[in-house]
Amino acid sequence: MDYKIAVLPGDGIGPEIIAEAVKVLDRVAMKYQHRFDYQYGLIGGAAMREGLDPFPEATQKICSWADTILFGAIGDPLYDNNPDARVRPEQGLLAMRKKLGLYANLRPVRIYPELIHMSPLKEERITGADLLIVRELTGGLYFGEPRELRDNGNLAVDTCLYSVGEIERISHVAFKMALLRRKRVTLVDKANVLETSRLWRRVVTRLSHEYPDVELDFMFVDNAAMQLIINPTRFDVILTENLFGDILSDEASVISGSIGLLASASVGDRISLFEPIHGSYPDGAGKNIANPLATILSAAMMLRTGLNLGEEAEAVESAVGESIRQKILTYDLNREKPATTSVVGDFIASRI
Ligand code: IPM
Ligand code: MG
Repeated sequence: MDYKIAVLPGDGIGPEIIAEAVKVLDRVAMKYQHRFDYQYGLIGGAAMREGLDPFPEATQKICSWADTILFGAIGDPLYDNNPDARVRPEQGLLAMRKKLGLYANLRPVRIYPELIHMSPLKEERITGADLLIVRELTGGLYFGEPRELRDNGNLAVDTCLYSVGEIERISHVAFKMALLRRKRVTLVDKANVLETSRLWRRVVTRLSHEYPDVELDFMFVDNAAMQLIINPTRFDVILTENLFGDILSDEASVISGSIGLLASASVGDRISLFEPIHGSYPDGAGKNIANPLATILSAAMMLRTGLNLGEEAEAVESAVGESIRQKILTYDLNREKPATTSVVGDFIASRI
């Protein structure tokens, strides 16, 4: 079959890790006799350095042409630490999420037994942890209006807004994912303080009656931040709003030993995007040291959920498992004998 894939490497290590994922995808195409048609687009700092918008028109066109999107990372030190910059690379990612309607961000966290010692957390606490963060991605404080400086720069305003419809569609995703897992949804919020959180509780409670097989419970976000570290096995699906999900998913990555392992999907009604949850790691750019596993695992998620190619996705995941067992890993996961980014990619491609 023929598939159209938009490839958006982005900033920092993005191009290097994406190259390894494409290497693996090429192997999948050969083995399973597919044709992957790639179109590359600029986004974030990479686009701004060419004098373009962070989510330029040409890239938007590529996204509407594509069946699915593989994305690297965004973030460029050239534009960081300047609170007065009017346009920033991150706006490219946010605009893309909004314009493509990618409202459901799925961030699975699991442990590879071979790497459990890499986690700074105690082994007995994290053994068996396997959770999925379902983060709302196109609402809340990230997008609420008004957002502005007032009073000659003496006052700043951000707005947290959620509609019933926005909460319902993401909650359906969470309940459906729970049915495929251990059938438990924990809504994480701040309902003791925030009006938006109380609306989430009402809507999610009402909706839960449509899923009688799923157990629903609630947790305040401050407590959830603690429980993730002291008792991560209590979670199955965590359902939460945009900013809480952003923060908790970086925290949860500590469980797996390296943020370089975590893949994610951003799902919309028309198209989905797949990306590693780590950032652009500018200090590591161009050095062939970045861990490509999260991107390769994102490509596997793309095969499974974006293109409905389950067997192919499994082949990629088991090749990644093989690189972990044989310790063909970059420095973050193998201090003694680190492999380079491209060696890890070559190895995984050769195991397809
Ligand atoms: C993420 C990132 C983004 C976010 C940034 C780069 C805008 O941290 O995908 O988690 O905050 O959503
Ligand atoms: Mg984040």
